[in-house]
Amino acid sequence: MKENKKVSNINTMELIPAVNLNEMQANLIELAIKASDNAYAPYSNFRVGAAVILADGQTFWANNQENIAYPAGICAERVLLCYTHSNYPKLKPLTIAIVAKKANDTGMATVTPCGMCRQTISEYEMKFDSPIEILMLRSDGSVLKAEGIDQLLPYKLEDLNV
Ligand code: THU
Repeated sequence: MKENKKVSNINTMELIPAVNLNEMQANLIELAIKASDNAYAPYSNFRVGAAVILADGQTFWANNQENIAYPAGICAERVLLCYTHSNYPKLKPLTIAIVAKKANDTGMATVTPCGMCRQTISEYEMKFDSPIEILMLRSDGSVLKAEGIDQLLPYKLEDLNV
């Protein structure tokens, strides 16, 4: 009898205590926290910040921008990656950090990118044929690290075409 194949590319993600972040990672988290201050989120009150480092070492940051017509709002990650790719289409994003403030402003909330943002990150990985590291701040100050979007968005067509 033929054996069933295992179809999975899910690896375990790393949980990094704040003190173990390297300089680049700590810097991106800090930039993202600063960026979250300027979020325009009057409807959800969930202020998200994101920061990215591009292949030449430049860093950029952005935040979520909401709209009274809910679907018109844009997440911090997509504001950021669409901006950087509009202006620096040749520079691949290396690492993106994502943070969110608790609604009552009593500290940071745990955040992970939504489905649309995962798809967007996946698109830029495909375009540059290179994984984008994703750092997600948690409410306890530790950072969940995905080495690439595969760990958050598994089972793309290419993965299932076995
Ligand atoms: N949001 C982001 O900007 N990024 C995320 O990773 C999670 C959600 C925004 C969308 C909306 O403005 C608000 O947070 C509440 O969902």
